[in-house]
Amino acid sequence: MIIEMKNIRKSFGSNDVLKDISFTLKGGEICALLGENGAGKSTLMNILGGVLPMDSGSLHIDGKQMAFSTPAESQAAGIAFIHQELNLINDLPIYENMFLGRELKTKTGSLDLAKMYKETEAIFKEMNVNLDPGMYVRDLDTSYKQIVEICRALMTKASIIIMDEPTTSLTDQEIKRVFAMMKMLKDQNVGIIFISHKLNEVLEVCTRYVVLRDGNLVAEGNVSEVTTNDLARFMVGFDVRTEPLVREKKLGPEVLRVEGFTSNQTFRDIHFSIKAGEIVGVTGLLGDGRSELFQSIFGAKKRISGKIYVNGKKATFKNTTQVIKEGIAYLPNNRKENAIIKDMNIIENASIATWPRFSKRGVINERKHQEIFAKQRKALSLKMGELTDSITSLSGGNQQKVVLAKWLAADPKVLILDNPTQGVDVGAKEDIYDIILKLADENIAIIVLSSEAPEIIRVCDRAIVMYHGVIQGEVAGEAMNEHNIMNLATGGQ
Ligand SMILES: Nc1ncnc2c1ncn2[C@@H]1O[C@H](COP(=O)(O)OP(=O)(O)OP(=O)(O)O)[C@@H](O)[C@H]1O
Ligand SMILES: [Mg+2]
Repeated sequence: MIIEMKNIRKSFGSNDVLKDISFTLKGGEICALLGENGAGKSTLMNILGGVLPMDSGSLHIDGKQMAFSTPAESQAAGIAFIHQELNLINDLPIYENMFLGRELKTKTGSLDLAKMYKETEAIFKEMNVNLDPGMYVRDLDTSYKQIVEICRALMTKASIIIMDEPTTSLTDQEIKRVFAMMKMLKDQNVGIIFISHKLNEVLEVCTRYVVLRDGNLVAEGNVSEVTTNDLARFMVGFDVRTEPLVREKKLGPEVLRVEGFTSNQTFRDIHFSIKAGEIVGVTGLLGDGRSELFQSIFGAKKRISGKIYVNGKKATFKNTTQVIKEGIAYLPNNRKENAIIKDMNIIENASIATWPRFSKRGVINERKHQEIFAKQRKALSLKMGELTDSITSLSGGNQQKVVLAKWLAADPKVLILDNPTQGVDVGAKEDIYDIILKLADENIAIIVLSSEAPEIIRVCDRAIVMYHGVIQGEVAGEAMNEHNIMNLATGGQ
């Protein structure tokens, strides 16, 4: 199958997102679609997926002109779409989610639940996924949701698969499995469009690349002929910093200590402490329990035992509000479900954690409010329209920056960032690292949860590595390298 998108234009109000894009994809290719946050990648794919109409241009499949006005039409033409913001229904079991919109029926016309269950089981086996198809989606962690979405697209037997940042919450092991599957599909002549801000993934799995910038297609070619630095330069227009970050470290007294934290299943006997001004990474593989642990420290999840000390004093928190009051802030990892408030606009989302600072007796001081936000907006190079636009009008990466802005403005003593750069482009990642370092200089203790070892190594003073719910080891200095982290993360010593 060959897909040709010709002279595509698309604007949102005065924002000309796609100016004149022509893009071709053949079966048997894995093409990376690259660009900064807000460059228009998802918009272009939403047009191909029948989610959005184009303003002008044309779409051809195997030479025949087509027009999709609904996602179902695009699907019927053989195109599967893994969306950037996950699209599963929490209140249905996995196997029913796998067949949304194309449910299997028995002869009498009722849902063939048994068959859907069986087929889900089969694809999980093929993908080496250890999940019970009968589990409810609401009980799944973000990474598993992402895996379910990927499996769902893979089992539709599509000729073209669009993968819009499929790996943001996955760890190396699952990513490897997804890549193996992609390569197998490529050999079966399936065409894949792969969107990712992790450029090493692009080099590993893609054959071709296409880069969007300022509404134009600015570069394309064979992946074998470029480096990650080249791709980063095409995306942002200049060389992106790669040298190590150095900082003057002056650590203050201990601000947070956790002793004997244990939950029913996810983590056991966790001890650690962090000092003012310190940046500690926490990493591991899927199922390491790190998110659950910090949700529990933040008071959002239960534990069966464990003590917390803040500034050396034992703390008894009853709920997250009390935790926040003590100066502990937590940026959750699943943006769509836990971090953004869809009914609020951009500036409201950026400031819900800090209202008391610019409001008096419930009346908001608009000037102060906007001043605080303007600073964050600049520091994070947010790409947005009006302050009062809906948060959902922003590209995925820019939504992430707003969520980050919210917690940065909160002036915490301890800042816990779970997967802070998910979906953020290479240039903006560096901006975020600078901000993390600056906050540490201001004596904030920062905990960075991430499954990307290079990220941990780049910004953290030391790294705690978890394995199946326990702290497997800790590394710092020279020893904080990918090899040692991977070794501990897989249960080594
Ligand atoms: N429904 C919408 N209403 C208004 N503006 C929109 C809408 N959808 C997208 N935009 C704007 O279009 C531009 C491109 O967004 P898009 O989501 O395509 O970016 P992207 O390249 O996928 O970025 P990211 O890497 O952050 O996901 C952004 O400026 C965004 O704010
Ligand atoms: Mg996008």
